[in-house]
Amino acid sequence: MPTPSLDALPIRRLTLRDLPACADLSEDRGWPREEHKWGFLLTAGRGFGIDDPRGGLVAACVITEYGSWGQPELGAVGMVLVAERHARQGVGRRLMRHVMSTMAGTPLTLYATENGRPLYEELGFKVTGRAEMLRGRFTPGGPETGVKTRSATAEDLPSVLRLDEEVFGADRTPLVTRLPAFADQLRVAEEGGRIIGYAGAWPNMHTHVVGPLIARDTETAQALVASLAAGTDRPLRTDIDVRHEELLAWAKERGLASVTCNSVMTYGIAELPGDWTRRFAPLTVAAG
Ligand SMILES: CC(C)(COP(=O)(O)OP(=O)(O)OC[C@H]1O[C@@H](n2cnc3c(N)ncnc32)[C@H](O)[C@@H]1OP(=O)(O)O)[C@@H](O)C(=O)NCCC(=O)NCCS
Repeated sequence: MPTPSLDALPIRRLTLRDLPACADLSEDRGWPREEHKWGFLLTAGRGFGIDDPRGGLVAACVITEYGSWGQPELGAVGMVLVAERHARQGVGRRLMRHVMSTMAGTPLTLYATENGRPLYEELGFKVTGRAEMLRGRFTPGGPETGVKTRSATAEDLPSVLRLDEEVFGADRTPLVTRLPAFADQLRVAEEGGRIIGYAGAWPNMHTHVVGPLIARDTETAQALVASLAAGTDRPLRTDIDVRHEELLAWAKERGLASVTCNSVMTYGIAELPGDWTRRFAPLTVAAG
């Protein structure tokens, strides 16, 4: 049987059953397998992929929608991957165009690697910001911030959802409500009985990723990061908006090192909604 041309291979929805194939695709491109993260994205978001007639996936990506149910206000695209053996043959462009037409005019955002940026620019995405990826073992110490943090409880959920929507600029209920099952730690910062920040730490390969990190100010963000670090033996990873210079400098003093910078890109809106001054790090660069 002749092998069909790449252009003729259908794009289909991915489900949790595709998780091993998605992880294989990550590995194919030299990325970690990140099965826990794929599982989260394939359930909280919508995966799209192309089957390779010889087995496995030719390509995959995930889109996570925010806003009212059925009327998304923002879509975040992530995990855009094309198998090495099929690279540079227009597959990434076709998959992205498909996702963009599925979203029919909804503004989109993504974190672009250097590799991905030219494709997104060609499709009309604009760079609107940058995030610095930091990784390393957190060294406790330094001045105490005085901000109180504690583990989140079930009763905190309404306040956390309210704060998250205010700061992110769109309702992320399906994501935030999954955090207790996805993250190993979920903590809130409190002042006078009011929640002024919250953050999670979720397991990814040998690290714990700190995100989301939402806080009233740098001091609150520091208290949340330090308290999450105290609850794990693993190195931390986080992706901090470069405008938060003070937090970046502090995290580097405390042992985290810069790994790379990703571009924050948007399509259909000039700026991300919400309040960047209180949004320090995304849940994951794959979902915003
Ligand atoms: C980025 C990626 C998804 C692109 O997919 P692809 O199928 O190879 O890309 P396409 O063939 O559709 O290329 C479309 C255009 O994007 C640009 N492009 C794609 N790969 C590029 C590269 N390595 N360097 C520079 N430009 C590139 C080119 O403008 C290309 O058009 P051209 O080939 O006509 O010049 C793929 O290379 C990949 O999986 N990379 C590893 C994972 C990754 O970095 N993903 C992006 C995450 S944000």
